[in-house]
Amino acid sequence: MIEFKYTPSKLIDENLYQEKIEEARGYVARAQQDDFGGWVDLPLNYDKDEFARLKVAAKKINEDSDILVCIGIGGSYLGHRAVIEALGGERGRTKIVYAGNSLSPRMLEKAVAEIEGKDFSVNVISKSGTTTEPAVAFRIFKQLLIDKYGETEAAKRIYATTDANKGALHDEAVAKGYETFVVPDNIGGRYSVLTAVGLLAIAVAGIDIDRLMDGAVEERTALISDGGKAAEYAAMRNVLLEKGYDIEILANFEPQFSQFNEWWKQLFGESEGKDGKGIYPASVVDSTDLHSMGQYIQEGRRALFETFVEVGGSYRGVIVPEFGENLDGLQYLEGKEMDYINKTANEATREAHIAGGVPVLEIVMPDIDERSLGGLIYFFEMSCALSGFTLGVNPFNQPGVEAYKTRMFELLGKPGYDK
Ligand code: PA5
Repeated sequence: MIEFKYTPSKLIDENLYQEKIEEARGYVARAQQDDFGGWVDLPLNYDKDEFARLKVAAKKINEDSDILVCIGIGGSYLGHRAVIEALGGERGRTKIVYAGNSLSPRMLEKAVAEIEGKDFSVNVISKSGTTTEPAVAFRIFKQLLIDKYGETEAAKRIYATTDANKGALHDEAVAKGYETFVVPDNIGGRYSVLTAVGLLAIAVAGIDIDRLMDGAVEERTALISDGGKAAEYAAMRNVLLEKGYDIEILANFEPQFSQFNEWWKQLFGESEGKDGKGIYPASVVDSTDLHSMGQYIQEGRRALFETFVEVGGSYRGVIVPEFGENLDGLQYLEGKEMDYINKTANEATREAHIAGGVPVLEIVMPDIDERSLGGLIYFFEMSCALSGFTLGVNPFNQPGVEAYKTRMFELLGKPGYDK
């Protein structure tokens, strides 16, 4: 189960906190009933037949592909990348290459270079089926597949995850006979990692998707009646915002969580940043970033609070070696576990930042494994929905994302868009 803690201080108004908790608790049912609240019950009612089909597809990809090119942007790639990297990367033969998450020709060339001489398949993910970034990348990799394998075999190496009934990608998949998986209508991109959007790539990476879902089920049980710890975290964020802390830094001491930070930033940024409101989500990976952003956090403008993602349990076996001399001054650490040193740095950082006037929150996951990560994903999704409703915004839409697209289409001369 995911824990939430905070250090009481004069920066935190306890009465307001209790009021906000009550308010946040009331929004669980609202999230569940929302047209885009499908993620709330997903861990229980996901499509079991599709889940089984995903596993078969993952097995085939592991057998016939050195590389799976995952094409998607935003909620269509951040979640599975976060999970795969947080769990230490691909475990089997098939490596994942990401494409279609920018328009950079350099990144596209790099992705193309990575499949040179390798057997590969393509997982193209787009709920709308019309997003420019993945659509352009898909064209390029589709052509490469056809060049290498011919039309018929290429079609067998394309897996399309998209809307069940509509969109350009859906229509092409039907016309060409690609295997398709569904992005449910009632789940938005940033809440979709536990659907086929995330699960195919995660399964291909050799990660146990049953255990991932089990973790989400467990966390749902803990949160579904009154929001549990997610309501507390959501409430605290809003308390701090009202006190002028409008930047939240997600901090952790595990570099393999850097992509998880990106997923979290999208989840909260796209859900809350609207109507002139919202907490700006930022992130650090420590202790690395203590040597870059640490100065600002300790002594810069006092508008930020920090949320540390902590890992329970311990990682044994990496020990500071004994040495016959003390020239480096490290004798006091001899024989100590690196995990102990890392956790001590974490504790010291929290204490220093609190002393520096930074409100510090903590979210504790039991371990770094599938079950804990499934729980953490569900915890943040629920927290985000409750926090967004408490803030007074719709946490499930993203109207602002269209603005750049409209102007880009005008400039690129897309039919129907006048300059
Ligand atoms: O969370 C969201 O809804 C967005 O980030 C989308 O996932 C992103 O814009 C990609 O959209 P699509 O899957 O339609 O290509």
